[in-house]
Amino acid sequence: MVKNKLFWKIFTSYIALLCLGLTLTGYFVSKVINGYYLSPLTRTLESDIKTIILYILLTFAITLVIGFVIMKINTSPLSNITQIAQNFARGNFARKAEIASSDEMGDLANAINIMGTELQSKMQTILDDKNRLDAIMANMNDAIITTDLQERIILINNAAKTMFGISSVTLNKDYLWEKLRNEKLCNLVREIILSSTKIGDKTQATRTSEIEIPSPEKKLLQTHLSPIQIDKNTYGILLVFHDITELRKLENTRREFVANVSHELRTPLASIKGYVETLLENNALRHEDTQDFLRIIMKHSQRLDNLIKDILELSKLDSHDLKIELNTMDIHPCIDNIFSQYKEHCAGKNQSLALDIAQHIPMIETNEYLLRQLLTNLLDNAIKYSHKGGRIDLKVAPMNKSIQFEISDTGIGIPQEHIPRIFERFYRVDPARSREMGGTGLGLAIVKHIVHLHHGSIKVESTVNAGSKFIITIPLQQPKYIA
Ligand SMILES: Nc1ncnc2c1ncn2[C@@H]1O[C@H](COP(=O)(O)OP(=O)(O)OP(=O)(O)O)[C@@H](O)[C@H]1O
Ligand SMILES: [Mg+2]
Repeated sequence: MVKNKLFWKIFTSYIALLCLGLTLTGYFVSKVINGYYLSPLTRTLESDIKTIILYILLTFAITLVIGFVIMKINTSPLSNITQIAQNFARGNFARKAEIASSDEMGDLANAINIMGTELQSKMQTILDDKNRLDAIMANMNDAIITTDLQERIILINNAAKTMFGISSVTLNKDYLWEKLRNEKLCNLVREIILSSTKIGDKTQATRTSEIEIPSPEKKLLQTHLSPIQIDKNTYGILLVFHDITELRKLENTRREFVANVSHELRTPLASIKGYVETLLENNALRHEDTQDFLRIIMKHSQRLDNLIKDILELSKLDSHDLKIELNTMDIHPCIDNIFSQYKEHCAGKNQSLALDIAQHIPMIETNEYLLRQLLTNLLDNAIKYSHKGGRIDLKVAPMNKSIQFEISDTGIGIPQEHIPRIFERFYRVDPARSREMGGTGLGLAIVKHIVHLHHGSIKVESTVNAGSKFIITIPLQQPKYIA
């Protein structure tokens, strides 16, 4: 009964209206009949019919007005609810329907309000999810693109735009091949669309490939393509690009390094083996020859020793978790010590070494062992690549918040085209000459690592047959996290 309150309301209003209409009709008809009894002679049929029609019209008008008012009262909450529902459809959930009665209208208003709240919270969840997804996509390093089955771009993140140099995309309109212009990639996408729509099995249609892009920057990308499927129906293709340029470079460097190490080790080992075999097979060798052979063996063993020491040093400096012990020190004693050691060495080679060090050098945060290694490697080179009678200069001076070391020589110099490569492992301008001098080609690679570990910089100036200058700048203080 409670459930059908509105029905009973309308029903009783209708009955009340009907009764009113009948009562009024009855009242007016009785009035006409009474009039007929009171003055039968004066009455005409025509005037009676007119009076009856007038009364019927009056009754009709009264019931119409009352009916209109009743219907208006009963249906006004409905138009209010309709308006609220239209607002919900437009995404405006601020207004709620008024619950003015406890009938079906009240129930409907209540249901509409509950639906609005639910809808609002669901829309908020969808919006939050979308914002979260947008944020993830925007901050991802990997480039992501999705296309529909017609190869139109339906989603692209910032990383993809930067990676492929795409300034603007009209989603759902621009085609992938228009924006990417990479034949291999577009063919792959087409293949996947074909196979995934045929097979309907996601795992089989997924593909990983490497593609090279020439612009805006030459890059090697690992590309993962997979169909977007819901209930085995394919809706589009998801493309994920991962930049592996640096990784591949590193792999190549490592491979080259291993090949170089093997080569460098094999050369002195082959010589040692050869001379030892000769010594073993020839018992009747002259004493001087035996001495010569042993000296050569010694030289190559020394080279092997140097090589292994340098490789170990480099791999130590190269390790990511290397923690260098830093001390704040006065570098005067260290420089004086190196200078006196090398002065003798130079004198033995008929070369001169001069030191120019500022009186006041601020204390510097460094590792003495590494600093020594850096300077001795550069001084070794200056001596090694200078002729007899050459001059070597070591200059140390404070500069802003750092110290500048300058090692210059009047030696053979380095051709300009070689300068960018001399810090590479095993790189030598003249490999035969360097090897002959017992060089491993790792000295400057070690120097570069030490400078980087100190957050410093290195510069080379050189003129062939005139000399070279290595300028190193090391900050007085190191960032706290490496200590
Ligand atoms: N002062 C210099 N003058 C001329 N050439 C130089 C000088 N310093 C370095 N080079 C060139 O750079 C190359 C690389 O130097 P690096 O110190 O790395 O190797 P190395 O001297 O050959 O061997 P080592 O590992 O024993 O130092 C050298 O082989 C040489 O050709
Ligand atoms: Mg060297």
